[in-house]
Amino acid sequence: MSNFSQTVNQDLSLSEESLQIDYLSGSNLLSNSLDGQDVILGLTQTPKTLPARYFYNQRGSELFEQICELPEYYPTRTEAQILQQYAQEIAQMTGACELVELGSGSSTKTRLLLDAYQALGSKFRYVPIDVSGEILVESARQLRQDYPKLDIQGLVGTYTQAMEKLTPSSFPSRLIFFLGSSLGNFSSQDCDRFFSQIKAALDAGEYFLLGVDLQKPKHLLEAAYNDSQGVTAQFNLNMLEHLNQRFAGNFDPKLFEHWAFYNEEFNQIEMHLRSLQSQTVCLEALNLKIKFEAGETIRTEISRKFDKDEMKQQLQAQGLKPLTVWTDPKQWFGLFLAQKSEVN
Ligand code: AVI
Repeated sequence: MSNFSQTVNQDLSLSEESLQIDYLSGSNLLSNSLDGQDVILGLTQTPKTLPARYFYNQRGSELFEQICELPEYYPTRTEAQILQQYAQEIAQMTGACELVELGSGSSTKTRLLLDAYQALGSKFRYVPIDVSGEILVESARQLRQDYPKLDIQGLVGTYTQAMEKLTPSSFPSRLIFFLGSSLGNFSSQDCDRFFSQIKAALDAGEYFLLGVDLQKPKHLLEAAYNDSQGVTAQFNLNMLEHLNQRFAGNFDPKLFEHWAFYNEEFNQIEMHLRSLQSQTVCLEALNLKIKFEAGETIRTEISRKFDKDEMKQQLQAQGLKPLTVWTDPKQWFGLFLAQKSEVN
């Protein structure tokens, strides 16, 4: 039996004894007919922007996996080290839980948490949430092989959709976790909205675990987004190929270059694609012609970097009381455990 209301089981849905993947209605946003309105909006404004979600076609997801292994890209590795060291402490602090992971992807770091919860010896459930049904099904199948007794109830949909569908946990508690500093890719307004959705999906006393990249010297940050092998540049330029495929476009990636820098005023890395010449590009399926001046850029991503104390205050202000922050010895990355307050 599904633990969620109003789910739509599509052809791809998978249901075994304690492995269920539910597709939330309207979750297939990338292929529905409204797709592309955000591209039109972003490319017709000044300065031009594109939503970061268009990084992630098949090739983009592979490139992102490669980025996570790069010597300069420290966040993935550093967060994994912190989890390795403190997963057991996290499990002991929260006790038996329903573990809800937002943006589970390939669930690699999740295994460190699953191992720790398994070692507690009590029953628990894993609820991965991701917009990509393919990735979710594949990683759920792999997890089932390695954790045969694990109860997996996956949800395919956006975070907003999924959090609205979560009914109160039937386990003693719930832990929602959001790793990889994906929060950094949200604007500060979206971040506030996201925290209030987290709060709404928790009962008083339940938990939120958040992994974010911390502020550090500019040269270290800029190196992480301008790696020497040029993988991040390929990842950025691949967005143009993705738009070409999806919207019958004629972007020539050779006529753009990758540009990433740390904006110290806003504490954020900004990734842009810079046009190398004046040119006009067409996205036929969107009936859109876009003119570029030589040197003009499209901002494709922000990646905000956080201050430990400010993040604690922000969580507290949202009714999510910070209990502990774990970091690495260089204080490059922070893992925050917060608990929904009894009042408000
Ligand atoms: C997914 N996200 C947290 C990554 C980041 O660091 O902001 C995306 C990324 N962009 C370039 N490199 C990695």
